[in-house]
Amino acid sequence: MSNIRGRFSKSADKLAAEYTASLAFDQRLYKQDIAGSIAHVKMLAKQSIISDDEAKTIIGGLEAVRGEIEKGKFKFAAEQEDIHMAIEARLIEKIGEAGLKLHTARSRNDQVALDMRLFVKETIATTQKGIRGLQQALLDIAEANKSVAMPGYTHLQAAQPVLLAHHLLAYFEMLQRDYERLSDCLKRADVMPLGSGALAGVAYKLDREFLAKELGFSKISQNSMDAVSDRDFILEYEAAAAICMMHLSRLAEEIVLWSSAEFGFIEIDDAYATGSSIMPQKKNPDVAELARGKTGRVYGNLMALLTTMKGLPLAYNRDMQEDKEGLFDTVDTLLSTLEVFAGIIKTIKVNNGNTCNALGRGYVLATDLADYLVKKGAAFRAAHEIVGKLVKYAVGKGKTLADLDMKEYKKFSPLFGADVRSITIETSLAARNVIGGTAPVQVKKALAGARRIIAKK
Ligand code: ARG
Repeated sequence: MSNIRGRFSKSADKLAAEYTASLAFDQRLYKQDIAGSIAHVKMLAKQSIISDDEAKTIIGGLEAVRGEIEKGKFKFAAEQEDIHMAIEARLIEKIGEAGLKLHTARSRNDQVALDMRLFVKETIATTQKGIRGLQQALLDIAEANKSVAMPGYTHLQAAQPVLLAHHLLAYFEMLQRDYERLSDCLKRADVMPLGSGALAGVAYKLDREFLAKELGFSKISQNSMDAVSDRDFILEYEAAAAICMMHLSRLAEEIVLWSSAEFGFIEIDDAYATGSSIMPQKKNPDVAELARGKTGRVYGNLMALLTTMKGLPLAYNRDMQEDKEGLFDTVDTLLSTLEVFAGIIKTIKVNNGNTCNALGRGYVLATDLADYLVKKGAAFRAAHEIVGKLVKYAVGKGKTLADLDMKEYKKFSPLFGADVRSITIETSLAARNVIGGTAPVQVKKALAGARRIIAKK
């Protein structure tokens, strides 16, 4: 039997044991925990700290335990504090004597640090895959609607014409930064902590480099006290996740707005829309709203762990067990949001008629009119004022700029000539021919650039 209560004269209070247990949620780390133990045991044998036979028996036992967990046959007993103790106890039950040697030269403190690093590393890869999926969907819908123009907004007031593809590619860029932030986070998660023991390092001649190689880490930790008490890599993931959710939440807001009758730019596919229990006409964008809502919880998880960590003296403190539920929740929320958003975006129907109508309403060519006057010799500030007055006049008459006749134009500036009529949405778009601008030639290049990013391995 193994028992870590040798120094106590009675067993733990039931409520205290329940309160401190983490098995209910850290069982999610079983794969990482067993992988870490197998590497540890191989290394112990290599260093002649245990015999090869013992190592073989322990590894066989650990693999059998993993099989039990995966087949749903493992009994997660309430009396086990955490996944580390649960697996070790079952191992000893299965293989006896040899199992008592697994924990040689190791502490749960470096063990849990290892498990969390392995988990975060894997999670970064799946998150990046999810980001790519959504980028792909944005790109596909942008390409399928390449020539659709719509008003671009500032202050949510119609500002200037933009291509819908340009607008969507803005989200591609945000997601690309999220992707890169995760790659950066990976560098610091990719550090192998085993050998740190409880806090001071262990009194055995370990081969830490071997462990790192065996477990796929590119670096080993350089300070045992830091290694067992560092949760920066989790904070970094949670921060990157929070920023990514913020981006998704902005996209969610666009979906909510654009699918309203007032905008009518897009229609959400029935598969991604919800109905109202009372109003039969409603087609609600609940998926987008929930993504916007869940963003709050992902922020909260980051704040919670930052707060947990802020007052902790070195090295390990049990407070740090609180890192898990928030991280798991953040991971699940982010991954499911990325996935469901890829589905929503892929199936969106763009209503070109409504984007066109919106372009007609908002005086979105006013800047082009001012630029026109500048080309005829006016100073920009003067041109700005002239067009401002012209717009005010048109608004007063309930007319669009296109509705005004030449006489009305001339009243505001003699520089207006018949060629003012040649200013259109198309010329406005084409004029923004700078790198990063909305001119169709530029957007075409941007689409190709985005394709190349996605195609890169
Ligand atoms: N369940 C613990 C955690 O998640 C594992 C480490 C426990 N270490 C200890 N010394 N009590 O942090």
